[in-house]
Amino acid sequence: MSSFPEATRLMRALAAGVLLSLIWVKTAHAEKFARIGRAATSSEIAAWNIDVRPDFQGLPRGSGSVAQGEKIWVARCASCHGDFAESPSVFPPLVGGTTRADIERGRVASLAAVSENSKTTLMKLATVSTLFDYIRRAMPFDAPKSLKVDEVYAVTAFMLNLADLVPADYVLSEKNFAEVQQRMPNRDGNTMAHGMLDVRGKPDVSGKDCMRDCPIDTSGMLLLPSTVNGLNGNLAEQNRPYGSIRGIETRRGP
Ligand code: HEC
Repeated sequence: MSSFPEATRLMRALAAGVLLSLIWVKTAHAEKFARIGRAATSSEIAAWNIDVRPDFQGLPRGSGSVAQGEKIWVARCASCHGDFAESPSVFPPLVGGTTRADIERGRVASLAAVSENSKTTLMKLATVSTLFDYIRRAMPFDAPKSLKVDEVYAVTAFMLNLADLVPADYVLSEKNFAEVQQRMPNRDGNTMAHGMLDVRGKPDVSGKDCMRDCPIDTSGMLLLPSTVNGLNGNLAEQNRPYGSIRGIETRRGP
């Protein structure tokens, strides 16, 4: 068959073309980013890839006791958060406001009663993984990521002890982390039964603002002095065409 070698030649030419264009793209890419950065190494990626999820995926192996945690707390955390995590000086208190009844129930009763300012971290937090994760990536504020994994376990254990979730001789580790989750005072406090993301229940907010052909209330408006009225044409036409404030008719001038 005479067309067979031709087809082969065509295929070869095509393949060479594809290869050439790949090389070209690669070179162009390399030229565009010449001497800018380099691929991240796997150990660099590992150093950043530290998130711990509520299902405990990503939780590193390690352990730390309440007593060890207390030492770390005093040295690294107390100056900002207070000896007992009670200080409101740099941030609302971290611990406080939860009861044994909350631990049983999984919802913090006082959340409903107190003002925004007196909500502590442990009153709101549903997942212990978040506490661990946050401390590991962000605290101490003045030297983030400086704690070793065991130190993060220890200082977390200390905070949990302050909140009466674990006894003073507790050693927190990846093995009993899930147990502690079952004692988080507000573990069932986050619900989807409202309209924040996925409208399954009653919306959290109700928008009553007028969205179309709304009457303009000029009572609270700062009006231009009559001398400049009309200097820049009609502001009503130049303003954005949506929202409740549309600009006022200024063409008429003073
Ligand atoms: C230099 C002051 C400082 C030190 C030291 C410090 N923190 Fe913080 N901490 C902060 C500030 C400020 C925030 C709020 C940060 C933000 O919201 O961005 C915070 C937030 C937190 C939160 C999150 C609270 C929440 O409800 O979001 C936790 C948990 C926490 N710190 C734990 C610790 C632990 C544990 C240590 C010691 C290892 C520590 N901090 C040391 C200043 C500090």
